[in-house]
Amino acid sequence: MGHYAYKMVETLNFEFKPVQESRLPSVDFNNIIFGRVYSDHMFISDYKNGFWNDFRIEPYDYIPFSPGSAVLHYAQSVFEGLKAYKSPSGEILIFRPDKNFERMNLSARRLCIPEIPEEVFMGGLNELLKIDKEWVPGLPGTSLYIRPFAFALDEYIGIRPSETYKFIIFTCPVGAYYSKPVKVKIETKYTRAVEGGTGFAKAAGNYAASLYPAKLAHEKGYDQLIWTDGKEHKYIEEAGTMNVMFLIGDKLITSEVGDSILSGITRDSVLTLANEWGVDIEIRKITVDEIIDACKAGELKEAFGVGTAATVAQIDTIGYEGVDYKLSAMEDREFSRKILQTLDDIRTGKAEDKYNWVYRL
Ligand code: COI
Repeated sequence: MGHYAYKMVETLNFEFKPVQESRLPSVDFNNIIFGRVYSDHMFISDYKNGFWNDFRIEPYDYIPFSPGSAVLHYAQSVFEGLKAYKSPSGEILIFRPDKNFERMNLSARRLCIPEIPEEVFMGGLNELLKIDKEWVPGLPGTSLYIRPFAFALDEYIGIRPSETYKFIIFTCPVGAYYSKPVKVKIETKYTRAVEGGTGFAKAAGNYAASLYPAKLAHEKGYDQLIWTDGKEHKYIEEAGTMNVMFLIGDKLITSEVGDSILSGITRDSVLTLANEWGVDIEIRKITVDEIIDACKAGELKEAFGVGTAATVAQIDTIGYEGVDYKLSAMEDREFSRKILQTLDDIRTGKAEDKYNWVYRL
């Protein structure tokens, strides 16, 4: 079909130890739970003496490291998430891996982790996917979730940046992240990230710190939180692990990214498409009050999270100060439906890739 521009050209010299027997025949692709099924192989590189080295692809398995490893104690660790799709003609297409590569190193710098060279990130990814391409599912709504991550290995209990690290990429065939629209609570006590902190990075510790407030919200019947700013809890920042967007009247509104808000690749893709369609877009600080006022006035037409795992996670109900505001019915959510369909068509090679987002394996 040739709608997409890029061929993944990065290659890397690596050692290959194949699995003795693929686990592929045991996978039920009609019932895959997000993050529970792992493909046959993983890519590994070790960092020591100032270099990323020892490139290899091995069977996905446990890895030995010391209980004293810095990552276990101080969370010197960053990760990425991206997806590969199968086109109708069976080609493997990877969505915007260049952006994940850039953000991986943005995160790495903030956590004092040595940056991953482009040929290691992109080359490792390309070689791994070539080997495990049969693991990319083709059913509607499925994809291969790719998880690159790097973490500190030094066996040392003092605090300082580690001198040794591992960089690993593994992959998981996945279906939907959320099985239904979510009920979220606006969080006004706990904070995900603050100015000067690590909120813009995909730092492992950010996710650990989000668990307790999310657990409290679960106990009250909510699926997730809408995070607000750490100073005044007055401005909306993110939703769960995603960026958040609102359609008020005909305006698409989302928070500007910064120190405490991750620069989402799905967020950027949605804004690019909305801009192309002539949608009125506002990227700015959003107050909790204006969202609640819009709920009360019936003007909040759509609210949804955007992220790689879920793509679009519809928000069904917003809870604030003990009141639950039920939002519009899913059938009426024309904008987010069109976004999801268009992104899906681009990612699977069914629509023209105007922005060169898609890399062909
Ligand atoms: C995403 O929303 O794409 C994420 O980062 C989710 C991931 C932590 C599973």
